Amino acid sequence: MKKSRKLLIAGNWKMNKLRADTEAFFDEFVPKLSALPHKDTIDVLFSCPLPLIATAQTKSKNTVTIASQNYHWEPKGAFTGEVSIPMLVDFGVNTSVVGHSERRQYFNESNETMRKKLLAAQNAKFKVIACVGETLEQRKSNQTTQVIDEQLKAIISGIKESSSQSLEHVVIAYEPVWAIGTGLSATTEQAVEVHKHIRSVWATAFGPGEAQKLRVLYGGSVTPDNATALLSQEDIDGALIGGASLKPDDFFKICQIAAS
Ligand code: 13P
Repeated sequence: MKKSRKLLIAGNWKMNKLRADTEAFFDEFVPKLSALPHKDTIDVLFSCPLPLIATAQTKSKNTVTIASQNYHWEPKGAFTGEVSIPMLVDFGVNTSVVGHSERRQYFNESNETMRKKLLAAQNAKFKVIACVGETLEQRKSNQTTQVIDEQLKAIISGIKESSSQSLEHVVIAYEPVWAIGTGLSATTEQAVEVHKHIRSVWATAFGPGEAQKLRVLYGGSVTPDNATALLSQEDIDGALIGGASLKPDDFFKICQIAAS
């Protein structure tokens, strides 16, 4: 797929799989990916639960990026149950998903925690896939743009507060909450409208050149069946995939579409 920006196909395993499943997944996936024509035209990433990271790193044999799903903004301290960026880096992890709607919904994460986490990531030159997206209620009451703007404002504030701004370390994922795990993907028109808006907000904050470079992923019920329609849109620079990333064959098919 000829695109302005390199497509990123990212799996988010959420709280799924054990070590044996991880081994079996990569035993099947890696040979397929390695044999994929034009595989260098796409980036492939898996956001794994922490106990699976070492297995995923070993079994994926450097063919993909292994990322985490979350991190704390402080480098160390009395934060039971949390993990810091230096700990992840020490483990060979240089990327994380951040601000996923499930973190917001079930663990009280807010735009303020997003700001702190972006600041910490930028200071550490740590890469993030920062998630934004509206709920069904918010969409129905025409608040989508406002909600996305508030979420982006927090992300942009975190970046701007850092003395070592590195925009190439930031990817945005638009994940409408109502499309996550529901089988009800956004239409290409709905996704493109928000993606264009995100790029325009980025242009206002950082200039049109940076906005052209920003990768904006779509997430929410992406499958091999709808991937072609979504990924062929100029403003959609990849996908963040939950359910379909758990099956090597489905996820590979999406990689195949992206690299075609
Ligand atoms: P599904 O692909 O299962 O809808 O999940 C999307 C998601 O939340 C990825 O982060």
